[in-house]
Amino acid sequence: MAAKDKLVFTTERLKLRPLAPSDAKGLHTAYGDPDAMRFWDCAPSRDLAETKARIPRNTPHFAMWAVLSRDTRRFLGMVNYHHRHAGHRRLAIGYILAREHWRKGLMSEALVPFLDHCFGALASHRVEALIEPGNVASRALAEKLGFSSEGLLRDHLCVEGRYRSVIMYSLLANEWRARQPKASRTQPSC
Ligand SMILES: CC(C)(COP(=O)(O)OP(=O)(O)OC[C@H]1O[C@@H](n2cnc3c(N)ncnc32)[C@H](O)[C@@H]1OP(=O)(O)O)[C@@H](O)C(=O)NCCC(=O)NCCS
Repeated sequence: MAAKDKLVFTTERLKLRPLAPSDAKGLHTAYGDPDAMRFWDCAPSRDLAETKARIPRNTPHFAMWAVLSRDTRRFLGMVNYHHRHAGHRRLAIGYILAREHWRKGLMSEALVPFLDHCFGALASHRVEALIEPGNVASRALAEKLGFSSEGLLRDHLCVEGRYRSVIMYSLLANEWRARQPKASRTQPSC
């Protein structure tokens, strides 16, 4: 399998592949929407050019994937990892869907292969998600996937001149593997 194919994940309804600059229009359906961006760590994009500028080159510490409909290839949303410290075997994830695709179980579905990738190929031991207390949807999603709340980080973000607190959620590799079917479990050491 070519290296780039290992970064493509499919589920029953979805295809995830590395985000490309040509996805800017799709991404703008989420990044340009103040409701979708209400709990994001930056203000909504003012225009498509700004969304485009928010698609940087992937690095070992940061990478984005497009979440597409498997059948139609329509752009639905995005997942990313950021603040990856390979040495500490830790990273944080982010996720967003355009509003019309909320509450259909899509992000629960997208995050399964994505977390498999984080704990598998990327050899992470700890995956974090920083979620504002008022972000009921994101908290429900993280808890459904097995993340544990570790407490409030006060005034952790400053967005448009306002401080925002976030709850630190984490999921450890052994916790994730314990939720998977027995045959697919492996236990790499530190
Ligand atoms: C967070 C987000 C990605 C969730 O995606 P989604 O596909 O709608 O989530 P799912 O449908 O997979 O739902 C996952 C769980 O959360 C629950 N949930 C989702 N939205 C909810 C809401 N508004 N209120 C309460 N529970 C909610 C679902 O019921 C489901 O739990 P269940 O299966 O036990 O019923 C989506 O709301 C979004 O894009 N929000 C804006 C961006 C954002 O805030 N990202 C996170 C930043 S930390």
